[in-house]
Formats: sequence, C-alpha cells, structure tokens
Amino acid sequence: MSPGTVYLVGAGPGDPELLTLKAYRLLRRCDALVYDALVPQALLELVPEHCERHFVGKRRGHHSVPQPSTNAVLVQLAQQHQCIVRLKGGDPFLFGRGGEEAAHLAAHGVAVQVVPGITAGIAAPAYAGIPITHRQAGSCVTFVTGHEEIDKQRPGVDWRGLARSSDGLVIYMGLHNLRRISEELQLGGLAADTPAAVIQEGTVKGQRLLISCLGQLADQVEAEDFSSPSIVVVGQVVLQRVASCAPAPADASMPLPLPS
Ligand SMILES: C[S@@+](CC[C@H](N)C(=O)[O-])C[C@H]1O[C@@H](n2cnc3c(N)ncnc32)[C@H](O)[C@@H]1O
Repeated sequence: MSPGTVYLVGAGPGDPELLTLKAYRLLRRCDALVYDALVPQALLELVPEHCERHFVGKRRGHHSVPQPSTNAVLVQLAQQHQCIVRLKGGDPFLFGRGGEEAAHLAAHGVAVQVVPGITAGIAAPAYAGIPITHRQAGSCVTFVTGHEEIDKQRPGVDWRGLARSSDGLVIYMGLHNLRRISEELQLGGLAADTPAAVIQEGTVKGQRLLISCLGQLADQVEAEDFSSPSIVVVGQVVLQRVASCAPAPADASMPLPLPS
C-alpha cells in the first residue's frame, strides 16, 4: 500500500457554503489538492500553506487534462503525501468520474475514500425554488446525462423510455443535445407543453433561470444564449416552483464565511 490516502471529495455545486463539514476538515489538513474547473475559488483558499496544488480541469480554449494523466498524478501523490484531496464539483460519484478514479487507485494499492457532495442537479433547482419531487407533481425523478460519449459501447440513454417511466428528469450536460432530447421525449409521449426549466450557473452569482415548455425549450435556450454549466429540469414539478424559497446565489470568489 502507498502511505497516503486519496479522498474523493464533493465540493458542492458552486455556493461555497454548501460544502460538508467532512470536506471542510479534509481541506484544512490536506498535503496535496487536485481540483477541477467547476470547484469554487473560495474553497481553494482553505488548504494549508504547505499544500501542493494541481489543477486538472479545462482551461479556456484548451482540453481537460486526460483522465489517465489525472489518475497517474493521484497515484504518484499518494507515494509522497499522507492526505490527498481530489476535489470535484458537486458529488464525485454523480457524472464526476469518481468511480473510475476510485477503481484506479484501489487497483494500484492506494487507500481511497469518497466524501459525498451536494450535486448540482438538486442544488440548482433548489436555488431556483423548484422542488424536484412533489406529492402532487412527481414521485419519481431521474438524473440523466445529456452528453453521452459517441463511442460508448453500451446503448445510449433511452429518452423515449424515460418519457414514459419518470415523472421528472434532471438533465446534466444537456444543452448541446437539447433539441434532439426534447424531440425524443415528445416521441416518447410527453406533450409539447410539458413544463421545463433551465438553470445556468446555479447557486452562484450569475445564476440564470428559464421557465419554458418542452416544445419551445431548445429555441428559447438558443435565443436567450444559455450556456454551460446548466441543469435542465423537465416535468410538472417545474410548476410547483416557490420563487420566494430560493436562497440568494453566492459570490464563489469571496472567502468562505465561517461560523463563529
Ligand atoms: C461533469 S458534470 C459534473 C456534475 C457534478 N459531479 C455534480 O454532482 O453536480 C458537469 C455538469 O454538471 C452541471 N452543473 C455543475 N455545476 C452546475 C451549476 N452550478 N449550475 C448548473 N449546472 C451545473 C452541468 O450540467 C455541467 O455541465
């Protein structure tokens, strides 16, 4: 076994105050930090001075660091340090490749632990006042990616099946394929007037909200120039929105306001 432990830590969706206490404690004592682009700036300030930092996200105009390189960095850091935090936006095991990294580390004799985080698919709708389940509007919700790798071995998402089986959909990375997804959902039986919402940059300053319906969603997203990162919510739950319950989006670059 390597001397170090790698903690796959969820940073939450953007508002730094949505960090868990467990994640906070690990950030305060880690020797090395490996982080992505969607991680709030304020959290990077929490690490001790001696901590070695490695950015493995996508820089403007560049590709992300390839996954095998990130895996190799983590294994190497575990030979050199005791406590390594691999900080990821939202939750590490939800569309975050946390499972792949955990398997790679375990296979290379590195101790690894996951620390769940608040996922964007729950927090972004909440900061828009949208409950993703509701007794009158939806007892079943599906978290689904709208961005599947083209060369994936197994079949893609069955959007028509989801239209029939799930009351509500929370779609990650869905903007690029939104027109096709909306068409597929309608072919699966959802009406064109099914409520839908898009939340861009949920929980942080700059948050934007679009309330629409399935038939018009793609056109409106284009017309109003919505962009990534965005969560799309489809289903009757959108109509249960209580605008006044939504927290104010946070400034993710400000120091984390710590409890006294
Ligand atoms: C690679 S996935 C990572 C998801 C992350 N592991 C989580 O649990 O939230 C990135 C996608 O998450 C969504 N996302 C992340 N942060 C977001 C935010 N603050 N507001 C809206 N969507 C967000 C977007 O769909 C974005 O394209």
